[in-house]
Amino acid sequence: MLKENDRGTYTVPTKGLYPFQWNWDSCFTAIGQAHFDQNRAWTEIETLFAHQWPDGMVPHIVFHVYDDGYFPGPDVWRTNRPVKTSGITQPPIAGFALRRLYEMSTDKQMAATRIKALLGPIHRWHQWFYACRDPHAQGLVAIIHPWEAGRDNSIDWDEAFARVPTDGIDPYVRRDTQHADPAHRPTKEQYDRYLWLVQHFRDLDWDNTRLHDASPFQVVDPGFNAILIRSCADLAEMAQLLGETEIAEQNRIWARTGAQALEALWSDPHGQYLCLDRVTGRLIDSASIGGIMAVIADIPPARAAAIARTIEREAERARFVVPSHSLDDPRFDSKRYWRGPVWLVVNYLIATGLKSAGEVRTAEKIVRSSLDLIALSGFAEYYDPLDGEPLGGRTFTWTAAVVLEFLAGHPVGAR
Ligand code: GLC
Repeated sequence: MLKENDRGTYTVPTKGLYPFQWNWDSCFTAIGQAHFDQNRAWTEIETLFAHQWPDGMVPHIVFHVYDDGYFPGPDVWRTNRPVKTSGITQPPIAGFALRRLYEMSTDKQMAATRIKALLGPIHRWHQWFYACRDPHAQGLVAIIHPWEAGRDNSIDWDEAFARVPTDGIDPYVRRDTQHADPAHRPTKEQYDRYLWLVQHFRDLDWDNTRLHDASPFQVVDPGFNAILIRSCADLAEMAQLLGETEIAEQNRIWARTGAQALEALWSDPHGQYLCLDRVTGRLIDSASIGGIMAVIADIPPARAAAIARTIEREAERARFVVPSHSLDDPRFDSKRYWRGPVWLVVNYLIATGLKSAGEVRTAEKIVRSSLDLIALSGFAEYYDPLDGEPLGGRTFTWTAAVVLEFLAGHPVGAR
């Protein structure tokens, strides 16, 4: 599947539904590619960073070639980049991928050369986050569009999203619902709001010094922040190894302050972290995978243990873990995208975090569940946690990539 979806220097998530390069997909893809072609794996990440914006942002989609099978395309984003891109970002997993690729590399000298060239660009991206998405120096960054979280229609956003108007949006035709069942995708009302935000940012000329404060949607997602914190820590380690001490020191500081700030998002009753609505200043009462993914950062052991217990509780009711939303919540929907289904890349992150925290039994359960889903339903985009039905796109790149990791015994032996 990784080869089938390979377009030479970048890989599409799946044919039809997603015909371009996606930011965090590419980083997971590189980890999968490293199992059979390390040179190609580095190229995947290099291609992504070749399209970094001058301000440091790395866009969530790079529209390498024209394809009208996807909406919203470059004519809607209008970001004026030489190669067209979207105007928002995605979870910054590149630092983590860099370190994983280094661990796996059989030619450490080649790896060091490739890493040396990527350290600066990834560092600038991290710097951009703290300057533009934490402009009031609170230690955590906000997303300003649900698509940035990579969890497009999560229940986490519902309340804050209700504040986003829908008036004045240009007429449009969705393309995702022509490739996948509309009942498994975001609703029309959500789509109107996604587009209102895009038009609003476009009217502000994609000027990232203004977008954060001008957005009616500013949410601090613990999963997103934990990915950034982990990437800062991993980048620091790679920088140290190559003698780039300034980059190492700065990223260590970001990782440390981020991990401390994350504590404010912890919820004892839910046994996990929660999102914070930065506009109202309140925690959002929504037990989603975002607050569980946070285990990918170096969180206190007691938090990781509580998260493991929370997953074990979900596993008593869901046949497959980890559901993207808690089954306790009446808003849980087993088939609708990020409102309940299991996503294998998220499982990979959670299992990796749990393994580091010593919660090996739960990590093993997650990996077993992931491989059971593959055996039952193939390489889908996401799966129903109750019956394992494959949902969304098929022959899905990042699903295949993390399966290669699981089969290689990373983060834990599966059986
Ligand atoms: C969807 C997912 C997002 C992913 C993209 C491409 O939009 O929500 O996380 O990056 O598809 O696979």
